[in-house]
Amino acid sequence: MFNVPEDKFSGLYKRPPEERLAAIASECGLSSDEMAVLRAGGLTIAEADLMRENVIGLYSLPLSVATGFRINGKDYLIPMVGEEPSVVAGASKVAKMAREFGGFTAVSTEPVMIGEISLLKPDPDVAVTVAAHKQDLLKVMNELAPTMSARGGGPRDVWAREYACAHGRCAVVYFSVDVRDAMGANTVNRIAEGLAPAITSLVGGKVVMRILTNLSVKRISRARAQFTDDPEMAKGILFAQSFAENDIFRAVTHNKGIMNGISALALATGNDTRAVEAGAHGYAAYSSFYRPLTKYYIEDGKLIGEIELPLALGTVGSGTSHKAARICLDKILKVKSSQELCNIAAALGLAQNFAAIRALTQEGINKGHMRLHSKTLALMAGATLDEAVRIYEHFRNYDGEVTMSAIKHALDELRKVRR
Ligand code: MEV
Repeated sequence: MFNVPEDKFSGLYKRPPEERLAAIASECGLSSDEMAVLRAGGLTIAEADLMRENVIGLYSLPLSVATGFRINGKDYLIPMVGEEPSVVAGASKVAKMAREFGGFTAVSTEPVMIGEISLLKPDPDVAVTVAAHKQDLLKVMNELAPTMSARGGGPRDVWAREYACAHGRCAVVYFSVDVRDAMGANTVNRIAEGLAPAITSLVGGKVVMRILTNLSVKRISRARAQFTDDPEMAKGILFAQSFAENDIFRAVTHNKGIMNGISALALATGNDTRAVEAGAHGYAAYSSFYRPLTKYYIEDGKLIGEIELPLALGTVGSGTSHKAARICLDKILKVKSSQELCNIAAALGLAQNFAAIRALTQEGINKGHMRLHSKTLALMAGATLDEAVRIYEHFRNYDGEVTMSAIKHALDELRKVRR
């Protein structure tokens, strides 16, 4: 039906980690030094000590790749960092389903971030005064971010809003800046601090804060895919969607499932996961009613899924200089811009959400989750690495409940046989 090339990495999960790394290295042209960086996590204590205060060690998490993604006609291996089982398997499985129907399409707006300068007791008519001096203020902003402007980005707009609060008359002066391939926090904060004196000389008042907002409503990504033509599966997904539309408790968890994918990619690429999470949940409530960030509907008998959310993910800038993050960005994802990375993140978020609600509306997530978790449980029960792998093999296709006592029993049995 769709003439899509086969996923070369289908079945990667069946191989041991070193073989998987070798396959990815050969596909992505990783050198032996780069492979060593990925194996070890990409950070020495000395480097960590330059990044943060009071460093006493390093803290590792699994780096995985989700396979099978086809986005805007291009195949991607998506690096994901996180502790939770089932997430990478779920994303890869759904990528494969969407692939059968041509894969994902995704678009992202220009990478425009918003900053705000909060003022207490300014003169009246701040919004009118700021609008009247917009060109002068843009000129000041341009001088504060000359390199951004040289790269085709730079300040775009400035506007204000006034309101009354418990402390008297207040105003917020907002400004927007195209930050190109950066996440943009440093640029926006520099402009906010540099612009504030020009604002108070126009409208008076006391500056309280100068900072970007993580609700980056001008930096929006959208993705879309067809997942199935099975009416029973579609029915379950539409029911799940409807509960998320009507119950905030469900909507928050629904959106958390989306972020299982997006935050894992953000972490792998050295981006600020908290900024992305704050923006996503803020956007979910932007219409003053907290909503799911995805929607599903039937079109010509096919189940279509869509996602829309703000994504402030950079491909250059501080966090992305982490050695492993650079390999993920340049070699594994091979992304050329922030917009391309955001397209991938949106598609991944949609896939992750579909994976979760499909499992929830079919067998439930616990069984699959616990089967995958069996290795960790085995280690907690005192198994060696080799024993944990055998126990996982044993439980992989197990239909019963994978409890700690079932794991301990399997470990005892394994040891009896091997004695
Ligand atoms: C678990 O990390 C994520 C889910 O709870 C998401 C959802 O309920 O949609 C499974």
